[in-house]
Amino acid sequence: MWKVQLFKLNYDEREPKAVKDVVEGGWITMGEKTKEFEANFSTLHDGVHCTAVSNATAALHMSLLALGIKDGDEVIIPALTFVADINVVRMVGATPILADCKSYEDWNISASTIEKVITKKTKAVIIVHFAGYPCQMDEIVALCKAKDIALIEDCAHAPGATYKGQAVGSFGEYGAFSFFTNKNLSVGEGGMLTTRDKDLDQQAKYFRSHGMTALTLDRHKGRAITYDVAQSGLNYRIDEMRSALGLIQLDKLADANAQRKVLVERYVERLSDNREISIPFLDLKDIESVYHIFPILLDAKIDRIALIGKLKEDGIQSSIHYPAFKDFTAFKDIGLNDAPVAEDIATRELTLPLYPSMSLEEVNLVCDSLIKHLKN
Ligand SMILES: Cc1ncc(COP(=O)(O)O)c(C=O)c1O
Repeated sequence: MWKVQLFKLNYDEREPKAVKDVVEGGWITMGEKTKEFEANFSTLHDGVHCTAVSNATAALHMSLLALGIKDGDEVIIPALTFVADINVVRMVGATPILADCKSYEDWNISASTIEKVITKKTKAVIIVHFAGYPCQMDEIVALCKAKDIALIEDCAHAPGATYKGQAVGSFGEYGAFSFFTNKNLSVGEGGMLTTRDKDLDQQAKYFRSHGMTALTLDRHKGRAITYDVAQSGLNYRIDEMRSALGLIQLDKLADANAQRKVLVERYVERLSDNREISIPFLDLKDIESVYHIFPILLDAKIDRIALIGKLKEDGIQSSIHYPAFKDFTAFKDIGLNDAPVAEDIATRELTLPLYPSMSLEEVNLVCDSLIKHLKN
């Protein structure tokens, strides 16, 4: 149906083989493959402790639980992000407070937009490295330290991205990565919780698996006969098929991210002169992006829904990142604070196709179609 779709898996014969090998090996629940995936992911992210989990939402939920965030606490989240961030805050009974985008050029939240909404009740901030572009971390880390606020990095868009050479997911108390289908590293459903702190890592392991002190694999291998339950926990485990996929995808990640960069450079070359649109994240200092998505901002007079329809007629798939929280039924009446820049961006943002195996010709097709329809 699509000439150019929004996203395509970066899979070849290695992924099905990896899954087949696991299934034929006879051990499919969390075990040695998962340990290997965690170890390899750790080397990419500055040697942080890693806990592979069922998805990034689980990782975010676990981090709030481990940090003791509860009813009556406030947690600052970006106003422009996926619903997982607001949902996890509400699921632990805390109040979500929105931080606005830094500017129309940098859609990430910043120390100054965070500081504006800090109160005595603020216990944590969840930042998102939007579209794969790291936030300005020096200022954010300093602010969180000064105000004694826990820092959680939502790295769903950003595996492999760095700020001043340091990997995202290693700055805060916790980092949460997503390996959902359309992410830079795809396993279907999966995630990773990272931390530099040994005790927080232990908490992560407990929350992942019922608070148990030994895993099924340990008992199978004869390393443990029984187990204790150190604290209450959940079942947020990943399985061996997904960890095997993760290992292959991790091997491909650097090249895939580099390919994304080449494609984004072509998009920028073709579109940056167009007056009907603007492109964010063009001149950011000290960061290496991993180009998770390619978002643009449409001029206010452009009818976004009509444009999406016209692109579709040309076989070009596009999407929106993200609708404003206040537009969702669940969050209409919960008293969310205003975030004018993010709310405006939410009405005008358009995401164009981007995936590592996309060709430069396909980027040109998308740009030709977009430019044609922007003129009309
Ligand atoms: C910014 C952000 N945070 C969290 C998530 C949740 O990830 P998962 O689907 O792995 O739970 C996503 C997924 O789309 C995301 O984009």
